[in-house]
Amino acid sequence: MATKNILVTGGAGYIGSHTILQLLLAGFKAVVVDNLDNSSKVAIQRVKELAGEYRSNLSLHQVDLRDKPKLEQLFASIRFDAVIHFAGLKAVGESVHKPLLYYNNNLIGTITLLEVMAAHGCKKLVFSSSATVYGWPKEVPCTEKFPLAATNPYGRTKLFIEEICRDIFHSDSEWKIILLRYFNPVGAHPSGQIGEDPRGFPNNLMPFLQQVAVGRRPALTVFGNDYNTVDGTGVRDYLHVVDLADGHIAALSKLDETNIGCEVYNLGTGKGTSVLEMVSAFEKASGKKISLVMAGRRPGDAEILYASTEKAERELHWKARYGIDDMCRDQWNWARKNPYGYESQESAI
Ligand code: NAD
Ligand code: WQD
Repeated sequence: MATKNILVTGGAGYIGSHTILQLLLAGFKAVVVDNLDNSSKVAIQRVKELAGEYRSNLSLHQVDLRDKPKLEQLFASIRFDAVIHFAGLKAVGESVHKPLLYYNNNLIGTITLLEVMAAHGCKKLVFSSSATVYGWPKEVPCTEKFPLAATNPYGRTKLFIEEICRDIFHSDSEWKIILLRYFNPVGAHPSGQIGEDPRGFPNNLMPFLQQVAVGRRPALTVFGNDYNTVDGTGVRDYLHVVDLADGHIAALSKLDETNIGCEVYNLGTGKGTSVLEMVSAFEKASGKKISLVMAGRRPGDAEILYASTEKAERELHWKARYGIDDMCRDQWNWARKNPYGYESQESAI
């Protein structure tokens, strides 16, 4: 069988870099389109090193998705079997202050991609949606049938894109689309060579925790300890990024089946962990004491969020393999080997 060409938008980013590695190891060719706004070429180099004999099956095109002529050129030169669409801006707080930036980048980028795909007859898509589309659910675990409610502009871009995907499938049944709603991806590749390297102030728990552990920040601020949870802190469904990457390979296999339509799947572990439980697991993995500052709740935060994973297990034959201790071990391994992320090697290029 001929090797399949997969276009991976945002493939230099955190989840994208782990996914392209899994794609290469599974025998796919991966073509990355990324404007490198929130990522580094070093990630692509590292993926090549990790991919060994498959390294030549990876290429990077530094292109913004909204640059339609460049995207057209790419689709004219390569026949893609499917697209995995990660590219987008993802900081919830920033989206509240800069909604137009988020609507422009995420919506126009996606619409441009879908138009070019349709024009070239490539109608298989896996899209990175998010658990954020459940808003503040009344109960847990969240099933894919829960009502959708975005609570910020970032979340609305995910909701709108999901609706756009449902609409294009209704207008043209040749499309096969899988919307993956990720819960909280954390950790890093076990090699410690690739991981999350946010630009500027980290918005999420694990990158912040990691920066405290390597001495870049004095303490972790815990947002709220008066929730109705095991220890008062917020509960989330943390998921190892390598498991998440494998979820995309499972989704690609699903796209090969007939009558997929436009389907949605949660990707999580189905288990909830509190902030303090996560801190304690990370302290154990790193051997470092994390200083904490207790603060008020972060506006917009849900109390408890975790996934029902039954649908993904049943229909994608995918289930997370790694637990919290594995996630913290690999996050720490990446952090201690790369305390400043890809930065030190970046300046050498
Ligand atoms: P990331 O920022 O590390 O990766 C996104 C990549 O997209 C970056 O490399 C960035 O440079 C690129 N990009 C952004 N806009 C672009 C554009 N217009 N043209 C070309 N490239 C562009 O983020 P991530 O954590 O890897 O997330 C990947 C996807 O998963 C995003 O769509 C995000 O919203 C979604 N998601 C992430 C999480 C999470 O917690 N990390 C959770 C749920 C969903
Ligand atoms: C986790 C827990 C915080 C930072 C976000 C997006 C969501 C999705 C995943 C993209 C919460 C607490 C955090 C800190 C803390 N991304 N916390 N101190 O908010 O569940 O989800 O990332 O789609 O859309 O909203 O993840 O890592 O920010 O927070 O106490 O410095 O850690 O309050 O309980 P969240 P998070």
